[in-house]
Formats: sequence, C-alpha cells, structure tokens
Amino acid sequence: MGLLKWSKRPAAGVDANTPGGNVVRGLVARATTPLLPDDYLHLLNPLWTARELRGKVLDVVKETEDTATVTIRTGWGFPAAYKPGQYVGIGLQVDGRWRWRSYSLTSISSAEKKTIAITVKANPDGFLSTHLVDGVTPATIIRLAAPRGDFHLPEPIPGKILFVTAGSGITPVIAMLRSLAARGQQADICHVHSAPTRDDVIFLDEMEALAHSTPGYTLKLQLTREMGKFTVCRLDEWVPDWRERDCWACGPPRLLDAMESHYERGGLRERLHVERFSIARTDHGGEGGTVRFALSDKKAEIDGATTLLEAGEKLGINMPFGCRMGICQTCVLPLAGGYVRDLRTGEERREGERIQTCISSVSGECTLDI
Ligand SMILES: Cc1cc2nc3c(=O)[nH]c(=O)nc-3n(C[C@H](O)[C@H](O)[C@H](O)COP(=O)(O)OP(=O)(O)OC[C@H]3O[C@@H](n4cnc5c(N)ncnc54)[C@H](O)[C@@H]3O)c2cc1C
Ligand code: FES
Repeated sequence: MGLLKWSKRPAAGVDANTPGGNVVRGLVARATTPLLPDDYLHLLNPLWTARELRGKVLDVVKETEDTATVTIRTGWGFPAAYKPGQYVGIGLQVDGRWRWRSYSLTSISSAEKKTIAITVKANPDGFLSTHLVDGVTPATIIRLAAPRGDFHLPEPIPGKILFVTAGSGITPVIAMLRSLAARGQQADICHVHSAPTRDDVIFLDEMEALAHSTPGYTLKLQLTREMGKFTVCRLDEWVPDWRERDCWACGPPRLLDAMESHYERGGLRERLHVERFSIARTDHGGEGGTVRFALSDKKAEIDGATTLLEAGEKLGINMPFGCRMGICQTCVLPLAGGYVRDLRTGEERREGERIQTCISSVSGECTLDI
C-alpha cells in the first residue's frame, strides 16, 4: 500500500471527517501504537480527541440582563451539518463533576465554520445555566453531544409559517430565521413572541431589522408586563389565517400545553411542532433507594428526585442520553430488576420494562443492564 493511501486510512477507533484529518490521525495512531493517539494528541490540544466530542468556549456575550450567547469552537468529529432548530448536549465540569444540559443551537451550520453558538437564559433556581451565563470563562474545555432533534423546518419549507415563541424559546426559531435569511429563502412568516419587557426580548434588534427588511416576515411582540400574557384565543385576532400555517412553538410548558389543546380542538394537531425545554414533574416521585448498574458493577443510594441517568453519571458510567427531558428515547435501558418511578406521571415500572433513565428514579431498589 502506498504511503499516502496508508496514512489516509482511518485509524482504528478514530473517526475523522476529512481525509486530511485522517492523515494526521492515521500517522499519529500508527506511530504511537500500542497507545491510542488520543493519549498524545489531547496533550498537544484538548480538542484533538476521538473518544468524545469536545469544544472550547471562545466567548460569552450578554444578550439581555439574564441571557448570554456562548460561542464554542468545536473539536474533531463534531458534525459540520446540523439543522436550524436542533439542539446540542453541553457537558461542563463543575466541582469535579460533569453536568449535562441541552441547548438549542442559535448558530447555523457551515462547512467552513468550526464554531457553534448557544444562547442561555440564567435560571436563578438552576445549576448550570447561571454558570454558563455568568461564570464560564473563555478557553474552558467542555464536552459536547452531537446535534439532534426533530424541531426543524422541512424541505421544501412551507409557504406559510407561524412561529409562537416566548422568552428563551426564541433560540431554535432564531436559528431557523437566520438560516432562511442566509439562504435567501422566502416564506410568509408570522412570528408571535412574548417577553416581559422590550429589554427582555432576546435578539430584539435582529428580529426588528428582519421585519423591516423582509416583506414576508411579520413580528408581533407581546410585552407581558404591560399587555398581559399571550393566550391562544388571541391567535384568531393576531393571525386570522393561523389554521393555514404550519406552526413551530417553543416556550414555557403552560403556553405549549395551551397550544397543543387549541390545535387538538381545531383538528389541526399535525400542523403544530413543539419544542419543550423542561418537563413537568409530579410530586409523587420515587421513594429513592439503591440503584445497581449491573454491567458496570457499581451501585448508588439516591433520593426519589434524582434520576437514574444522574446517578449513573455521578458514578462515571457512560450513560446514553439526548434531550434529558423524556422526549428523544436515547436514554432507554432495560430494567433488569426492581422498581422505578416515572417522575412525570408518578407511574411505577417493573422488571422487564424498558425505561427512560432521564425521567425515572428508583422506588426501593432497581438494577439496570449497563
Ligand atoms: C431540547 C432542549 C433545548 C433547550 N434549549 C435551551 C436554550 O436554547 N436556552 C436555554 O436557556 N435553555 C434551553 N434548554 C433548557 C436547558 O437545558 C436547562 O434545562 C436550563 O438551562 C436550566 O438548567 P439549569 O442547570 O440552570 O437548571 P437545573 O438545575 O436543571 O434546574 C432547572 C429547574 O428545575 C428545577 N429542578 C431541578 N432539579 C429538580 C428536581 N430534582 N425536582 C424538581 N425540580 C427540580 C430547578 O429548581 C429549576 O427550577 C433546553 C432544553 C431542552 C430539553
Ligand atoms: S435523554 Fe431523551 S428521553 Fe431520556
């Protein structure tokens, strides 16, 4: 085999997007066998690792008082193509523990750009969002989970679109608007967005500029402090032809619940696409207890509010996950023994069932096959 061909062959366990990447990784892999190239490469640059997706925080720019856009340089293996509206997993090490959350991408994909952006609203009761908005410093190395999610526009894009967003729910939709503008695609878009005041509207200047320059885009702001909350009954008044539009909605659970009921009642549920950032938890969580991770030979005592996913991660087990909200099914594992409780519904699940570890906690004791 010629030297060039040999060097371009992907090294075992190493996945590079480009032949150029394979040359470097392949040469290093073969020069360093039996040790993995990662052992050497990530000493040179923490983003050069094939074992996991990584990123480096480039900057954090405030959008409003409590939101900021975090720009991240992506490392090897991060997919160059993703759809506007999709989200990524962000893993940050805080107090020695990796904490994971999902964030919609506010950047749009481009083959040349090796950066992505997320826009985070600090939740004063939450853990990671305040850290991302106010605490994370440029050059921090983070872990990433590949973009995923079904909340994106179809191809070809519909001629008439309705966006209903509130607060930080603007994030997946701004990516769609940016993508449409970048590709010069025209659609008749009506966008209803709610926020307490103008100062709280994330991307206000950008959306107003778009409304000014793009004949097909109409922005209707509901400033809730002076106008009250947006209610779905206002759709008839604000968007008389809403029934003819495909709708993408993202905001607090109460707004999305109301939207779903409204579309259901109108027999138009298939026209509505919803992205939820949080799940409603029931008060009847699991009692807590012992969770065993059979294949990893580890166990933990957890309370009834801690999820099996969190428990496994705390023990350093490589738990599968996506949305961490009970939506995507990526975290599903077989329940090899015992009982768990679904934190959304309070329902108990037993041995033999397949369970979503991100929204389940232990009830007494349980064993997972991982
Ligand atoms: C698909 C998707 C996309 C998202 N995109 C964005 C985005 O673009 N921008 C954005 O700002 N956010 C987004 N989110 C939300 C984000 O992932 C985080 O949930 C959010 O930032 C809060 O994280 P946190 O660590 O600050 O809060 P957490 O510590 O996770 O807490 C969140 C809330 O839950 C409560 N809580 C936590 N644990 C428990 C418990 N055990 N029992 C009861 N209540 C509890 C807390 O009190 C708090 O009110 C998205 C979520 C999903 C699923
Ligand atoms: S991680 Fe998506 S359903 Fe559990």
